Amino acid sequence: MLLSRSRPLYRFTFNGWISTSPSIRKFTNTPSSIRVLEETYPTDDYTNLTPSILSKLSRRLHAQKGHPISTLRSLVESHFPDFSHLSSLSPVVTPYQNFDSLSFPADHPGRAKTDSYYINKNAMLRTHTSAHEVEIFSRGIERWLLTADVYRRDEIDASHYPVFHQMEGAKIFDTDASSIERVERECQLLERQLAASNIAIEDVQHMSETNPAQTSHDMRSSEVTAKNLKLCLNSLLYKLFAGVAGATKDDPLRVRWIEAYFPFTSPSFEVEVFFRGKWLEILGCGVVLQSTLDRAGVANKMGWAFGLGLERIAMILYSIPDIRLFWSEDARFLSQFTHGKIDAFKPYSRYPPSHRDISFWKSSSDMHDNDLYDVIRDVAGDLVEDVAIIDRFTHQKTQRHSLTVRVIYRSFDRSLVNEEVNVLQNRVVSRLRERLGVEIR
Ligand code: PHE
Repeated sequence: MLLSRSRPLYRFTFNGWISTSPSIRKFTNTPSSIRVLEETYPTDDYTNLTPSILSKLSRRLHAQKGHPISTLRSLVESHFPDFSHLSSLSPVVTPYQNFDSLSFPADHPGRAKTDSYYINKNAMLRTHTSAHEVEIFSRGIERWLLTADVYRRDEIDASHYPVFHQMEGAKIFDTDASSIERVERECQLLERQLAASNIAIEDVQHMSETNPAQTSHDMRSSEVTAKNLKLCLNSLLYKLFAGVAGATKDDPLRVRWIEAYFPFTSPSFEVEVFFRGKWLEILGCGVVLQSTLDRAGVANKMGWAFGLGLERIAMILYSIPDIRLFWSEDARFLSQFTHGKIDAFKPYSRYPPSHRDISFWKSSSDMHDNDLYDVIRDVAGDLVEDVAIIDRFTHQKTQRHSLTVRVIYRSFDRSLVNEEVNVLQNRVVSRLRERLGVEIR
């Protein structure tokens, strides 16, 4: 199971910290410096990294042979054999790398401390693999795949975890006529291969008024770049999903392209795959913004990039029901898998959940739901399966905000006894008081 074998079951002695808005910060006890991957960083009022997140930085699931995340990575890499395969870039980046180098506007919500993990004002955990685009392009690498762990403050449930893995793929090329012709020929080849595959693609225009080509690109090269992107990804998705999501003799694999928006690509798309009666969002992509390439010193090139989430795909391919399982160090999980092979996960237990409700007054209106999730995760780790806000109201006279929160506890390897859950819950309650200054109702 996740905690008990290799780590103490309750991290009660662990002095967790969390700091958020100034009004909430007065309740915290953030140390003056923290160590992250062998480096010491001073803290400031941006610091909101928690010990439970910190403990994930060295796990590198994508490099653990046999782990589903690592097998999936190899599978994607094998689809792009002539690309550079990168996987060792540090998760610590600057906000410039994560946002500015990709033309995120100054007021983009992703920059907020409530959404991202900051070590301090000038250092953060990457929220996506795109954070490395400028750096990699500027090394002169024109075709690459990067696999990495990424971090986002988020809710807690079976498919959301504050750490997950992404693969970024990118290809850039010269814009002279003969290079563009080469890309066109490659498209023709891919088109022929896909025509012989059992795949049904719902496409969207390469560009439109709402999803425009960039002003510095002529129509033909923008068109062919988007087309090449779509063909490369359709054939990747066919490789990954054929036989799993439909794609039997009668049922084709269904893939759907949708117009999207990212600050660093135009045109931009999202791609969904039809699986068990639902469309699942698999990846985001687009034609790389010229300003990214300018910053990387390759202004004379153009090309595409995509970013896909590995957990989402692995959960489908391996029938893994809960995202926490990827972090399991239990042999009953890990020994099921052989590197390079995709076999359905066999659940080894399903112990009963146990839930506890808690109602409280918020100490200030700028306490964010994500502050709550981080405190709970820091106390209960992977024993918490789900946190749901089941009631929310504002007192008419005092204007104070009240929340009722249901925490669902469940372990993968044993039944949690009531006393144990009570201890956890009490700890959660006192941590919420200490760290966020809430008043229990
Ligand atoms: N980085 C984007 C995300 O995490 C995905 C993306 C990558 C979109 C590359 C466009 C190009 O959502």
